[in-house]
Amino acid sequence: MSGPQLVVTIDGPAGAGKSSVAKLLARRLDYRLLDTGAIYRAVALAAERGSIPWTDGAACAEIARTLDIRFAFVGDTNHVFLGEEDVSSAIRSPGISQGASQVSTHPPVRAALLDLQRRLAAGGGVVVEGRDTGTIVFPNARAKFFLTATAAERTRRRVAELAAAGTVVDYDVTLREIEERDARDASRDVAPMVPADDAVLVDSSTQTLEEVVAALAATVLARSRPN
Ligand code: DC
Repeated sequence: MSGPQLVVTIDGPAGAGKSSVAKLLARRLDYRLLDTGAIYRAVALAAERGSIPWTDGAACAEIARTLDIRFAFVGDTNHVFLGEEDVSSAIRSPGISQGASQVSTHPPVRAALLDLQRRLAAGGGVVVEGRDTGTIVFPNARAKFFLTATAAERTRRRVAELAAAGTVVDYDVTLREIEERDARDASRDVAPMVPADDAVLVDSSTQTLEEVVAALAATVLARSRPN
């Protein structure tokens, strides 16, 4: 690809299609992919394994500061490693989803992960996917997107995604969990999930994945051209 290698942020609520869009966009641009939700999930998993409650902000922050996390594409999937262990599946359980949401409310955890995210994105040429990446983590990113979809559509997608991974969950329970997480993520004092002023808003309810990715790629390429 010609032109500068940008930092591209994609924020939005759970199930809006961020992961699929971010992965395809990264592939299309030949960019790296930084899944920041996976980092919060890894902190929750490490805490659980160390018998540290997700409500203990100081102890969870210590875990965040020393997190030995690494991402690597294996075929089509962005795998997550803690040390040598592939934790890609373990961090996707419904329990860890709740844990990640809880640990993400602690300011010291977010502060520790701010540094980590910036280190991991150093040099640009990266698509960063999360909740506050366009507002807090990379306020100067050249291309920012806020992707959303209706709660019903997001629940349908999350149920299907978990089913594909071999986990059967109830639709109504999942809808309630998604609504609870949305409310907690949007109303928290620290880094609430809101679009950046300069983010492009994208509603994925009525567009195919391909249409969304094509639109985002066109925007990134336009912004990559030297003025
Ligand atoms: O995108 P995800 O479902 O994997 O994210 C897991 C949790 O981590 C989610 O409840 C919100 C939190 N999170 C966050 O607070 N900030 C981010 N940049 C990414 C995720």
